[in-house]
Parts: sequence; structure tokens; C-alpha cells
Amino acid sequence: MLPESAQAPVDTFWSGCHGTSMPLLLEGKPVAESIYAQLRASLPNTKRKPKLAVVLVGSDPASQTYVRSKAKKCEELGMASDTLELKASTSETELLNLIAKLNADDTVTGILVQLPLPSQISRHQVSLTIDPFKDVDGLHPVNAGLLMQGQPNFIPCTPAGIMEMLNFYKIEASGKKAVVIGRSEIVGKPMALLLQQANATVTVCHSKTPDIEKVCREAEILVVAMGKPKAVTQSWVSSGAVVVDVGIHRVEGKLCGDVDFEAVQSRVSAISPVPGGVGPLTIAMLMQNVLISAS
Ligand code: GUN
Repeated sequence: MLPESAQAPVDTFWSGCHGTSMPLLLEGKPVAESIYAQLRASLPNTKRKPKLAVVLVGSDPASQTYVRSKAKKCEELGMASDTLELKASTSETELLNLIAKLNADDTVTGILVQLPLPSQISRHQVSLTIDPFKDVDGLHPVNAGLLMQGQPNFIPCTPAGIMEMLNFYKIEASGKKAVVIGRSEIVGKPMALLLQQANATVTVCHSKTPDIEKVCREAEILVVAMGKPKAVTQSWVSSGAVVVDVGIHRVEGKLCGDVDFEAVQSRVSAISPVPGGVGPLTIAMLMQNVLISAS
């Protein structure tokens, strides 16, 4: 959680601008910058030098871009990183052997295996093999269990970043009805747990939820991790809702989210843009987890 001084200078958010045509834009950059400022201040105090090992299997262009930006951010902050690139035909055993080596390497404090993985590799086996104390993605069952019990060590980066975003913009989750669309282990499930721990009443929707639009219209806070471009339109949101868009897609050469921004913006009180919303926070929280891995 960010200190008061790092929060946006807005008055109590909920007394604000419900249903007006100008929603508050939940931009990720200022939130990320305040996290980086805190990280820079804490870095000299780590027990060991933080070092992130990033493993990329295959050559998916989007994954290559993400992996490069993770390494670059480590460098900018003065943390070490190593990118290990494996061919798309790598067997599960080969990858697990590499992870075992990284687990045993005392200079490596954090390990991230970029997702998605080729179909011959089980992401569950990968998560199970990473040392839980080096699991900066927070996907090992020990870390998932600790989060479920309200005692987290590593929290998955995107939902952790969204909680920082809500805090920064003074959006109170306590007592609110929150709806999360998506039930993945990396976003939807941990997001629901974090909102619940912040005392929201949480509903999780997914592809088999009947009348999903109606359920979403109940939401005061709607987090969308659906994986479908512009799927959430005006009829899905209630007047004054806060909408956080986790999706990112390229459609006809333009980036967009899971939410049809133009369609909903006149109805909601706050919305995260795509790009520039959640994206910068995922990487900031990864850097925070790398720092924790060395502490
Ligand atoms: N692919 C897309 N987002 C992520 C992430 O947060 N972690 C990993 N490991 N892979 C991803």
C-alpha cells in the first residue's frame, strides 16, 4: 500500500462525478512512478543483490516485447536480470531442469517464466517447480495459498497493481459491490481475493455466467479480464461505476482493451485507459516482487 503522500490529490472519490461525461482516468504511470520511488529508496537495504531470471520459451512477438521491458526496467532500477531464451520445441523436462538450476543459483533471487507456454509444457508443473521464495509471479501453490489465507508473500503482479491503482486514486473498495470478469490464476482469482480482503463484496463472472451483463450492472467496481476486445459495452455498466480494464488487444493496428472505452465513458465515474492503465502497474509490481525476493 502506498503512503498517503503518494496518493492522487483528489477528495473522497465517491462524492465525485457520478454519471457525468468526464470520468476520472485511472492512468497507471503516476502510480507506477510512486512505486518506483519507493523501490529506489528500499533497494540499498536488501539482504542480497536482487536478480531476476526471465525465461522465454518460443518467439511470440508480444512475449518478446514484455520480456525485454522487464529486463530493461530491472536495469533502470539497478537490479540485475538475465533473460534465458529457449526454442518453442523445448520439452517440459528441459524447462524444469533449467528452473531447478535457477532455484539452486544463489545469485538469482527471482524467477519468472513468461506465459503463455507451448502446449507440450504444463504451466502448473512450471509453477510447482519454481522455488516459492523466488516465485515473483506469485503462482506457486504455496504463494496462492498464502494469499488465500490473507498472509501473502508474492502476489500476482496485475491484481496487486490494480489494488495500488484503487488506493492511489482513493477509490475505497470496503463495503462496495465488486465484480471481476475472468477466473484465471494470474488475474481473476487473486483479484477477487484481494478485493474481498479489502472488504468488498465480490462476484466472479466467467464465460458460463448466465446474464453476465445484468451481473456486471450491479458492480460499483468492475474489473474486466475477459480477453475479448471491446466486449464490455454501455449496457454492462451502471451509472457511476469504476471500471478497470485488464485486456490489451491490437485491432486494425490500434490497441484497445476488453472494454469499449468510447461506449462506456459517459456512464462511468472512473476508468482505466488501454494502453496506459493497468499495463505500467504490472511491471512495477513485478519489480516490487523482485525486491521482496532479495529482502
Ligand atoms: N504473460 C502475460 N502476463 C504475464 C505475467 O504477469 N507473468 C508471466 N509469467 N507471464 C505473463
